[in-house]
Parts: sequence; C-alpha cells; structure tokens
Amino acid sequence: MNFKEAILKRRSVRTFDFKNDLTPELLADINNFLKNANNPYNIDIEWKIFEASKYKLSSPVINGEKYYIIGKVKKIDHALEAFGYEFEEIILYLTSIGIGTTWMAGTLDRKIFEHAIDLKEDEVMPCVTPIGYPNNKMSLKEKLMRKGIKADHRKEFNELFFSKNFNNPLDNDELNKYKDILELVRKAPSAVNKQPWRILINDNLIHFYKDSKKGYSNHGLDIQKVDLGIAIDHFVIGLKDKNLDYEFLINDPKIECDFEYIASILIK
Ligand SMILES: Cc1cc2nc3c(=O)[nH]c(=O)nc-3n(C[C@H](O)[C@H](O)[C@H](O)COP(=O)(O)O)c2cc1C
Repeated sequence: MNFKEAILKRRSVRTFDFKNDLTPELLADINNFLKNANNPYNIDIEWKIFEASKYKLSSPVINGEKYYIIGKVKKIDHALEAFGYEFEEIILYLTSIGIGTTWMAGTLDRKIFEHAIDLKEDEVMPCVTPIGYPNNKMSLKEKLMRKGIKADHRKEFNELFFSKNFNNPLDNDELNKYKDILELVRKAPSAVNKQPWRILINDNLIHFYKDSKKGYSNHGLDIQKVDLGIAIDHFVIGLKDKNLDYEFLINDPKIECDFEYIASILIK
C-alpha cells in the first residue's frame, strides 16, 4: 500500500487486538522509520516507542494497546506544523503496514507521557499515538465517540478550497487540475475533526491558511497548527503521486482575510 492509498484507508483506531503482538522485528522496522522521518521545515523531532505497561501510559478512549509513540520538539517557530507533517508521515507508514493509530492531543494524562519522554523546559510534546493491530470490532465507546465527533464526515470542497481570494470558489479548470490532490487534503484527520485548513490557489502557487474561528487549543498549544502540517503533508503526497516537482516556501502573500497564513507550495 502506498501513502496515497494509506490516506484513503486510514481511520483512527481506538480498539486494539490485545492478543496480536507487534514482533521485535516489526518494532525495529518502525524505529528505523522514526529515525529517518523528516519535514519540509527541517526541524528536528525526537520519536520514541514506549511499552504502555512499563511507563503506565493509557488513555480513557483507547483499549487493548501495548505501545505508544511519543514525539517531542524544541519550542521554536513552526515546530507544531513540522510536528504535524512528520507525525502524519509516520501514521501513514504504520497504516500502510496494517498498524492502527490514533492522533491524540487531549485524551491523555500529559504529565505521565511527558515524564516518559523526559520533556525539557524548552520542548513540547504536541501529540502521541497508541500503536498495535486493530481489533476486528470497535468497542461501543469507540463507535459512540466517532458518532459524537462525526468522524466519517468532512467539509465540502467549496468550504475549504478557493481561487485567488477567499470570495471565489475554484473554477472548472482548477478543479480538474487539482481535484485528486485536494481530495487527499479533505480526507485528513484533525483535532476534534474541525478541519481548520483553508487553501488558496493562484495558478501553480498554493497557499495554506488556518481558520481558527472555532479554534481548539490544548495546554496552551495551538493544536490546529499541527492539523495544518497534516494537510500540507497530504498535499505533498498528492504531488508526489502525480510526479509533480515542487518547492515548499513561507512567503505570506498578505491577502486580506480572516485566516492565518501558514505556508505555500510552488508547483514547478
Ligand atoms: C492533532 C490531532 C489531535 C487529536 N486528538 C485526539 C484525542 O485527543 N483523542 C482522540 O480520541 N482523537 C483525537 N484525534 C483524532 C480525531 O478525532 C480524528 O482524526 C477525527 O475525528 C477524524 O476521524 P478519523 O481519524 O477516524 O478519520 C486527534 C486528531 C488530530 C489530527
């Protein structure tokens, strides 16, 4: 399964198969991927796998998990977007090899996870994920949670993607050109499924913005910047799928709008 297929297949997994262990060989493969993961901001992020029972790691919404991946990064500009991008690469790799995950920023006792990863004053731990083989059946709690946050629902194209300014929907040419790639962005996971990404297309220049009107922050962290990192990753996966060359840049076009500029991609 490639990353594009993994995007279409992935869902949050909150009920794991307790009897089906991850083998040491598989954990070594995952560790190898963690070591080599990167992001377009070139910000260093440290990832580690932890045994849940050994470090007393748990979550009220997760069942049957034996391991967690925790990541931490220095508190610097763009750390959260970089974290979102790189963690989504890891999540999609895990999906592609049949391993279940759930992005988690809120439903965890942060102190215990931060202690496990030895978080320092100048670092943040935005999110974690349990890892394991998905159970065939979702728990009732998981089913209710998915219903509560409408986890299978995503916003429509015309709420997310715009042409040249935020008053114009995409025209037919733009839709034909970018639909497949934007569909991958639309499918992305986000905190409380708020989908805060807004994209402005100006020919081959794509601008990513964050709509925080119904914002979500956690322990002072703007978790929606993590969501934007995920959206950028999905866009890049779409470009790679079409063999399109691109450049990642941060160059605010200063368009007047209610949204916060995050980054741009120039398609070559
Ligand atoms: C940054 C981020 C933080 C999240 N935090 C939590 C969380 O704390 N607990 C949880 O159960 N799910 C969490 N989620 C999962 C979302 O609720 C989920 O991705 C969304 O509802 C869409 O469902 P899906 O992942 O099954 O497609 C988070 C997702 C993201 C991207």
